[in-house]
Amino acid sequence: MKNIKEILNKIIKTAFEKSGFENKGLVVNSEREDLCDFQCNDCMQLAKIAHKSPMEIAKEVVSNVEKNEVIKTIEIAPAGFINITINNNFLTKHTDDLLKNFKQNIAEKHTPKKIVIDYGGANIAKPLHIGHLRSAIIGESLKRIANFIGDEVIGDVHLGDWGLQMGMVIAEIKRRQPDLVYFDKNFSGEYPKTSPVTIEDLETLYPEASKRAKSDETAMEEARKATYELQNNNKGYIELWKQFCKVSIEAAKNNYDNLDVNFELWNGESSSNYLIKPMIDNLVEKGFAYESNGALVVNVSEPDDKVEIPPFLLIKSDGAALYSTTDLATIIDRQNKLNPDEIWYVVDNRQSLHFTQLFRCAEKTKIKNINTKLEFVGFGTMNGKDGKPYKTREGGTMKLCDLIDEIQLEAKKKIEQNLKDRTDLKIDEIDEIKNCVALATLKFADLSNYRAKDYVFDINKFMEFEGKTGPYLLYTVARLNSLLNKNKINEKTESFNIYSNIEKKILLTITTVEDSILKAYQDKAPSYLCDTAFKLANYYNTFYSSTNLMKEQDINKKSSWIKLSTLTLQTLKVILNILGIKTVEKM
Ligand code: ARG
Repeated sequence: MKNIKEILNKIIKTAFEKSGFENKGLVVNSEREDLCDFQCNDCMQLAKIAHKSPMEIAKEVVSNVEKNEVIKTIEIAPAGFINITINNNFLTKHTDDLLKNFKQNIAEKHTPKKIVIDYGGANIAKPLHIGHLRSAIIGESLKRIANFIGDEVIGDVHLGDWGLQMGMVIAEIKRRQPDLVYFDKNFSGEYPKTSPVTIEDLETLYPEASKRAKSDETAMEEARKATYELQNNNKGYIELWKQFCKVSIEAAKNNYDNLDVNFELWNGESSSNYLIKPMIDNLVEKGFAYESNGALVVNVSEPDDKVEIPPFLLIKSDGAALYSTTDLATIIDRQNKLNPDEIWYVVDNRQSLHFTQLFRCAEKTKIKNINTKLEFVGFGTMNGKDGKPYKTREGGTMKLCDLIDEIQLEAKKKIEQNLKDRTDLKIDEIDEIKNCVALATLKFADLSNYRAKDYVFDINKFMEFEGKTGPYLLYTVARLNSLLNKNKINEKTESFNIYSNIEKKILLTITTVEDSILKAYQDKAPSYLCDTAFKLANYYNTFYSSTNLMKEQDINKKSSWIKLSTLTLQTLKVILNILGIKTVEKM
């Protein structure tokens, strides 16, 4: 189904053609909502070529517009703008039709693709921290947007489970519990089914191991050796590694569940280990990989580089594979198993150099199939009020679960205050509201800020029930739910008219959602959807406070307003759902 702008484009383009101008007549959103709904600015550019004034051209074009049911008025304004106002009857019917098959209508405009989204990026033995939050929230939303418009999308958490950190953990466990069977080279029995370390152990064990390795060369050497042996089939190490991975993954799953973020694949850096040796041999044989200071690298610089792009490191001088090696092998693994059209990496902007190197290396060595597109979807940092990455009160790195606790606590205070006189809500409903408000605060704050930019996270501001916040949108949805539960559409009298300007604005905003979704997909920027949702909620609340729907006596009016509310609710729900934000029935 064509949207309003497409329909108008066709009408206006034909009028331009009739006036002798090919390929002109682009219709855009109004820049003066007080004057019109849409406008066309093309006459200004034509003046020079046509040797006529823009006003004259506009007059001619307007006189050539064929009769139609879409346009109510079409006017010319200096210095040659064509201003268009839409017919109300057309707008109501069009919006209603649009939402009847909303998903299909959008999907029709998109050629479906198969996409792997690499997001999350939790690391084994380390708790998820604030840096992982944006990847989870933005990645989940991009996945839902792509799904909505018809792509087949596979989200892969790509666990950090194979680098030097793993060797550090193994060496540290060995230091603490040297008698474990995992360290007995001659052990031939069955390895224990449970992990010798808990998640709490890991949380203290890893930072200590890392500190020790950094300050003590022997400890570092042991960690390197353990990494190498793990990657080269030391059976005991592999069994031990599997155990602490399991413990870590369980904790990460819990965290992601709390965020309502779900992955189709729980692969990790280690999943492509089987491909590393043949990949390296091949790159050496073809002359791409060469030795440099004992390490194996691929030159990825290009002649017109403005800044130096260092060689891509494949194997360290100690023989171990690293982050870059597994990322390269993972491309092969994904192509072999999934054959995606595109792979998106939703990762912190600070890793952009790594991805430039990775993509260049994959391209140059022809590891990447010609038809596979790799895209780095970088995001900015979530900062505290001091403009530096968000920290704990004591100044340490903020664990994700602690941040979620902090927000839950704030939500609890706020909701208990706001809902203290509400006798209609049961305890579990209040709990649900608290939970949803906390998550909506966090997710909307993050998503409404343009992905690639840093932003300052201010709990109090983002938890306000007024303004561009998650709770404001939840509140609007709850208000609509409650209104529509009390006022059902009367099918017999179902009329749908527009009685005020604000109602028209609501409908016009709904018709732009399709564009917002496609644009958010194109630019991988869910913030566009946050803008549209906020605009719609704002218009709706203005309408709501200026009318008394419940008491309205005019049955046609009431029925139209119920319809308008129904369409608004449906649209807000679609948007919030693809942003990954759960809504509540009551609030
Ligand atoms: N585990 C990494 C980190 O915590 C993020 C992984 C991103 N994905 C990738 N394919 N490199 O920084």
